[in-house]
Amino acid sequence: MKNKLIAPSLLSADFGHLKRDIEMLNDSQSDWLHVDVMDGRFVPNISFGFPVMKTVKEHSKKFVDVHLMIVEPEKYVEEFVKQGADLVSVHYEACTHLHRTIQLIQDSGAKAGVVLNPSTPVLMLEDIIELVDLVLLMSVNPGFGGQKFIKNTYKKIAETKDLILSNNSTALIQIDGGVNLDNAAKLFDAGADVLVAGNAVFSSDNPAKTIELLKV
Ligand code: DX5
Ligand code: ZN
Repeated sequence: MKNKLIAPSLLSADFGHLKRDIEMLNDSQSDWLHVDVMDGRFVPNISFGFPVMKTVKEHSKKFVDVHLMIVEPEKYVEEFVKQGADLVSVHYEACTHLHRTIQLIQDSGAKAGVVLNPSTPVLMLEDIIELVDLVLLMSVNPGFGGQKFIKNTYKKIAETKDLILSNNSTALIQIDGGVNLDNAAKLFDAGADVLVAGNAVFSSDNPAKTIELLKV
């Protein structure tokens, strides 16, 4: 997997025209499609689940990146892989047996990511970093699109980079929340490999152009 990747978040798409928006992303320079699943328990919001995954699978030509903001994600990860997820990320805070859940995702045939909330320190990953394919650092508190970027994320990128290097890990660093044209280049420079962007892409007049600009 190469670096400087953009993963537009479907959460900010127009659900009345989901197929149209997915096709717009197919024709754009976006690399991944970020799918935010929320259960109203782990986060104070409910988004969507398998019926939307079916539409994604039918129409998307991009790498499908599923971000599970749900309790007991181990109950559903295999089904998400079956439904077309190329990568499934689970929250550190939602997994009692994180090691087992990461292995379950990988054994199901997908890449596995671990997500940290803004208040969870990077050092909690010390004993799992060797196994994971991706570390997702939340740069807002999960649950909603369109929130303000938390600047402490830069420090956490540096700490994650150190942890990856000192363990000879190949994990990618993904940033999610409040990414926009003002901070994207700085985040890539700081060591991020993948940027999720919801509001910045879908509320712009020209989403495809914005995706292109986020990579510069
Ligand atoms: C937030 C989600 C994000 C969200 C990002 O809980 O995980 O993926 O869609 O949206 P923006 O880019 O608008 O902050
Ligand atoms: Zn997300």
